[in-house]
Amino acid sequence: MNRKSIVVLCTVLAVTSCVEDLTFPPGFLWGAATAAYQVEGGWNASDKGESVWDRLSHEHPEMITDLTNGDVACDSYHLWRRDIEMAKELGLQFYRLSISWPRLLPSGFPNHISEDGKNYYNNLIDGLLEKGIEPFVTLYHWDLPQSLQDLGGWTNPLVADWFVDYARVAYTLFGDRVRWWITINEPLIICDVVYSSGILAPPIMSPEVGAHLCSKNVVMAHAKAYRLYDEEFRPKYHGKVSLANHHIWFEPLSPADAELAELARENCVGKYAHPIYSKVGGWPPALEKALGDYYSKQGYSKPILPPFTQKEIEYVRGTFDFYALNQYTSRLIRPAREGETFEPWPLGDAIQLNAKTERDESWSTTLSFWFFVHPEGIRRQLVWLKQQYGDIEFVVTENGRSTQAGLDDQDRIDYYRKYLRQILLAMKEDGVNVTGYTAWTLMDNFEWMDGLSNKFGLYEVDFNDPLRTRTPRASANFYSNLIKTNTLDLGTIQDEL
Ligand SMILES: *[C@@H]1O[C@H](CO)[C@@H](O)[C@H](O)[C@H]1NC(C)=O
Ligand SMILES: *[C@@H]1O[C@H](CO)[C@@H](O)[C@H](O)[C@H]1NC(C)=O
Repeated sequence: MNRKSIVVLCTVLAVTSCVEDLTFPPGFLWGAATAAYQVEGGWNASDKGESVWDRLSHEHPEMITDLTNGDVACDSYHLWRRDIEMAKELGLQFYRLSISWPRLLPSGFPNHISEDGKNYYNNLIDGLLEKGIEPFVTLYHWDLPQSLQDLGGWTNPLVADWFVDYARVAYTLFGDRVRWWITINEPLIICDVVYSSGILAPPIMSPEVGAHLCSKNVVMAHAKAYRLYDEEFRPKYHGKVSLANHHIWFEPLSPADAELAELARENCVGKYAHPIYSKVGGWPPALEKALGDYYSKQGYSKPILPPFTQKEIEYVRGTFDFYALNQYTSRLIRPAREGETFEPWPLGDAIQLNAKTERDESWSTTLSFWFFVHPEGIRRQLVWLKQQYGDIEFVVTENGRSTQAGLDDQDRIDYYRKYLRQILLAMKEDGVNVTGYTAWTLMDNFEWMDGLSNKFGLYEVDFNDPLRTRTPRASANFYSNLIKTNTLDLGTIQDEL
């Protein structure tokens, strides 16, 4: 009997023991995520300050594929009631949203707290809680106040103090109702991608000095915001705080490239995880050495990745209550050949490591140029993280894929099935403690440089309609069933296994 007929037989007899166990543990948390700039609109509503994304999309509309911007986006600034209703329709246990720093603090500083900004997030948080949905709040999802960018933004070490002042306002205003906090979303994008590609906001190229100043400042800002919560808010509110990393899983192209793949993982993930989650703290030693060697060859007499002092290492180490993982895609990695040029992140090449990346032919492509489908990558990533940082709690804080417009999004369902199956294998076979999962994203939104043309939503949004009507896709139905049953229905992918 082949595999397929076994599955069919088991289904008919309703015998679960002879098929894979596809049930998530009781209490597993299901959510969906959005980010302020991608959905809110209301870019100049009331006293809101300008963000780096407002500035980029207005001054450089040509940098956005379809010349759109986030001025209105999904208009969630006005349509938040409908967003809550959708979260309820899906049966979400939590909704991951981000706060716009310049909406809450128009000057970037806490000298003035916007009354309307405060009311907006209070309404959203209270509305979710009324429906039994937990708000899961990110403080920073890329929309830095332009006023702070003008002072150097993430390359100025003072940004850690500016950030912690903002975090204090958010914890003070919302901490009584928010139990899950992400300080900073995807340092890899904020630093490495921004300063080495020039395709995101702020459009500043500084792949060497700027990117690495940013790396240290982001880690320090996170640590300060974590320590503040730990000391002043946790005793009252008992919440959990972490940072969300972006993960690209690197596979060696050939066995000889294993060491290079490991270094690439440290460059992508370890840079922002080792200081916080490892037992020893500080930069990943192999990466610090590789970068040191590279930059001294470039003629720099001082380390370009700013070293941590011993005091800073202690201060940063352990500043987490769980591990938050955003993951979409993978790369094959190999040494560069003579004369080859490097594509900056997010394609994953690393000039400092002399490393080039490729797509395995079996990994299907998506509309997003950086995005290839490789479900096994998420399992391998989870296992790697557990090996590196121990048996800690993991929450998948973003996962999903882009598709064309249209309601019958079987390729999105396929993606969720395959990635969730790999997450289950990581949990059941490899003992990785994953306690929650977040679909990216609740609804189509402003997808950064891809504008409105690239659809990631469980709900379709009609951007031509002033009412921004939201309609559930087939995947919304799939996801709500998954949440209801807490069990993965493999459906059509069963035949492929
Ligand atoms: C807000 O921005 C829109 C363009 O998105 C513009 O038409 C409107 O005049 C601006 N409102 C204010 C108060 O500046
Ligand atoms: C997973 O982590 C959660 C949160 O720390 C904990 O309550 C739970 O006991 C852990 N589960 C396992 C199987 O270790």
